Amino acid sequence: MIRLSGITPSGHIQLGNHLGAIRRWAAEGGPEDLYFVSDMHGMTTTHNPARLRSLAAEQLAMLIASGIAPERVFVQSDIARELGALTWILECTCSYGEAARMIQFKEKSKGQAGVRLSLLTYPVLMAADILLQGAGEVPVGEDQRQHVELARALAKRFNGTYGDVFTMPKAVLPPSGARVKDLADPTRKMSKSARDEVGVVFVLDEPDQIRRKIRRAVTDGGTRPVFSPETRPGMANLLEILAACTGGKPEVLAEHFPSYGALKEAVAEAVIEELRPVREGTVALLADPAELDRVRKAGAARAAERGEHRLSSALRLIGGN
Ligand code: TRP
Repeated sequence: MIRLSGITPSGHIQLGNHLGAIRRWAAEGGPEDLYFVSDMHGMTTTHNPARLRSLAAEQLAMLIASGIAPERVFVQSDIARELGALTWILECTCSYGEAARMIQFKEKSKGQAGVRLSLLTYPVLMAADILLQGAGEVPVGEDQRQHVELARALAKRFNGTYGDVFTMPKAVLPPSGARVKDLADPTRKMSKSARDEVGVVFVLDEPDQIRRKIRRAVTDGGTRPVFSPETRPGMANLLEILAACTGGKPEVLAEHFPSYGALKEAVAEAVIEELRPVREGTVALLADPAELDRVRKAGAARAAERGEHRLSSALRLIGGN
């Protein structure tokens, strides 16, 4: 069973991406799994090409520094030809209404002028990512579940109409509560594309920046830490982060600290130690562009080769040559 997932270089990778997704991909990864930087998905709204390119390189380095085997990673645009071709085939399998119904499309296009057509067809490219590689399981957050379901519907329809080519994928969701919230606004999830960065801990932040952000995290008027997500969301977020970094339980950890200040110090140190190897590994790889390039080319060649027979069978079955 192949697991596959992607991360879009819409910003620098933050603590929530690390704890909620990447760290898990590295720990649970099977020998067949594939993880990639979905830079083509970063072109669907206004973007800066040079920034996109450098964020994609940074994210590739970070996937490797996080412990995912270099043979298991690639950058999406390195196989743009294969994916573009398969996206077209899948677009010929997808109805306009199906694409327009996607919640993320509706949210992102609402009230916007000049919405790119690619924002509408983005889930079809995502289906191509998944189906080209024959992935059976797709670890994603709740917000991407509907897109994986579309990929599944398209695979089923194509297989039923033209012939059996595609593996049926299914979404694998993280356990509930495993979502890091913004430190400045604990009602929102931490996001790499947040406009205001004071509440976002980036994996490449220096230890001092991390300390500062965590000390300033919004909590409540209480004095002793208590784990109560409903009534004290900021405190609960800090306890969840500490639990994720140290392996304890948030409600038990709460009892170990006499004050909010003491807890914040402990959270900061735990986060710094959790991120240190990833930050150092990423910086080292980025300082060695020849090595990064070698890994990148090898990953692209493998990903293209792995999907080649599915792409040519699908094209042939739908009436091409
Ligand atoms: N769209 C996903 C996100 O924004 C990233 C992604 C792109 C992806 N292609 C994928 C995830 C294929 C899983 C499978 O988070």
